[in-house]
Amino acid sequence: MRNEAERAAASDLGQTRRGLILTALATGACLASSGSAIAQEDSPGSNERPQKADVLVYSDGDRAGEVIKPADLKAGGPPSRAWPKDPKTSVVRKGSRLNEILVVKLDAALLDEETRARSVDGVVAYSAICVHTGCPITGWVRAASGDRDVFKCFCHNSEYDPRQSAQVVFGPAPRRLPALPLAEQDGALTVAAAFVGKVGAQPGR
Ligand code: FES
Repeated sequence: MRNEAERAAASDLGQTRRGLILTALATGACLASSGSAIAQEDSPGSNERPQKADVLVYSDGDRAGEVIKPADLKAGGPPSRAWPKDPKTSVVRKGSRLNEILVVKLDAALLDEETRARSVDGVVAYSAICVHTGCPITGWVRAASGDRDVFKCFCHNSEYDPRQSAQVVFGPAPRRLPALPLAEQDGALTVAAAFVGKVGAQPGR
């Protein structure tokens, strides 16, 4: 007959075994899910630049993966981050960080002619990668001069005005952000044409 100490040791062993099994199951699930993420990122086309007729999906937040509709965006910002997605293969083109996009809805009356031509209902889209040295652009702040909110890269404080083709309005960035012309299909935002301009920082800068 087992004494108290033996029963306690047996119970600890049982709990340890259950813990190991649960850990193994969790690790397996984790590996399976990271495997599917890797598979998605390795899918053909996942690192191609946005293509005409791609839809745009949220890249982060509660709605990550959902198609972006102009009607869902709040006028005046802040911008949403997005990936292009091939509607035929359902591949999200997140295999390259250079494919991330900023989407923001603005007062259409404030857009310059070039910007308006690329917009849908005041919604405009640009590369989310700063062209100075390639940091992600994460800020939507009041401009250093003037009273408008603008995109801001906090690495070296460059600011870009999305109403004026994302021209540089402050800081060291050498050129404007590449614009992504938009269209609308069945209420969803789609890509009308490739990026206008080279995405990311260019060698030698
Ligand atoms: S990388 Fe954005 S300002 Fe330098």
